[in-house]
Amino acid sequence: MEEEWDLETRAVRAGIHRSAFNEHAEALYLTSSYVFDNAQQAADRFTNREPGMIYSRFTNPTVTAFQERLASLEGGESCLATASGMSAILTVFMGLLQAGDHVVASRSLFGASVQLLSGILGRFGIITTFVPLSDLAAWEQAVRPETRLFFVETPANPTMELVDLTALAALAHDRGVRLVVDNCFCTPILQRPLELGADLVVHSATKYLDGQGRVLGGAIVGSMALVMESPIYQFLRTAGPSMSPFNAWVCLKGMETLALRLEAQCARAQQLAQWLEQQPGVARVLYPGLPSHPQYELACRQQSQGGGVVTFEVKGGQAAAWNIIDSLQLISVTGNLGDTKSTLTHPATTTHGRLSDADRANAGITPGMLRLSVGLETVRDLQRDLERGLG
Ligand SMILES: Cc1ncc(COP(=O)(O)O)c(C=O)c1O
Repeated sequence: MEEEWDLETRAVRAGIHRSAFNEHAEALYLTSSYVFDNAQQAADRFTNREPGMIYSRFTNPTVTAFQERLASLEGGESCLATASGMSAILTVFMGLLQAGDHVVASRSLFGASVQLLSGILGRFGIITTFVPLSDLAAWEQAVRPETRLFFVETPANPTMELVDLTALAALAHDRGVRLVVDNCFCTPILQRPLELGADLVVHSATKYLDGQGRVLGGAIVGSMALVMESPIYQFLRTAGPSMSPFNAWVCLKGMETLALRLEAQCARAQQLAQWLEQQPGVARVLYPGLPSHPQYELACRQQSQGGGVVTFEVKGGQAAAWNIIDSLQLISVTGNLGDTKSTLTHPATTTHGRLSDADRANAGITPGMLRLSVGLETVRDLQRDLERGLG
């Protein structure tokens, strides 16, 4: 029956397995382990001869409910929840790569993903080549015999650059490479990468899935073979970057309002993007819902709406950007995004502040760039707040 439900219905209903008490809301199972009837059952569970719960580092009913709901929304067979978005990305890399392997990644990525690939995995013999996200010829040229993964965000944080996922998936598969997509900015409500050919989707549930800035979380979605019956699950189960049941419960409740929130946030973001384009102090606005976006036609095809994040560049570089931040009275100055409260971030000195100047420039981050994550306040109040610093 669940397969027949619309996306919005599944966001509210998928993954519910009621306990013997028949509770209406999702139950929160705050337990680190589970009790066995006897020694034989304990042995059978630990050796996978009998299915069932063992320990919450491996499985937990509330986490399972979150996993089933997100898998249903993304159109994946299987989902694995993790402690954060970065631990989801780490788990994919640790599960699918080994020393000597090669990754081709977009040069427009969240700063920590760049650092994980080049700074940390590089020390373990995994080499990454960073290429311009939308340049398919560059992806093709970067492939080597030992290339195992392509890794992208689309839209990218914070440049809002896109890549044609169908074309990139075809290119990857022709060469025996897997495509992993960070779908954090769109969520399955706006874009479903698995349907476009991606092998795995990763999420920072910290963003829109929770949607109210309360907890950290992450997820990996894909086929049963790739997610659960693979070294990805083995890594999570052994190394332990698992999602806590409490965080899973918060994200489950967050997902119930995901479609409604995104509809309202996209509408506000679209209006603000159009308004920002008219402001004399703004040099350019990067928003996939604007006809001025260099990949507007692709955005219309690949995403159902522009999303809740608007990136803009002010005239006057870092000083002008910081002036806007320091003049705010409503919008929060914080690193998170996807919250019902609007947030403004200066990527060059925060989320991408630890990158080298060259990596930052490669990622397309300029000193005058600001990333606005649009919440649920009124457009008029948000405009008034931005106007103060825009002059
Ligand atoms: C696109 C993207 N991916 C991954 C992450 C990392 O997520 P988390 O902070 O939950 O580890 C972020 C965080 O900002 C992000 O913006």
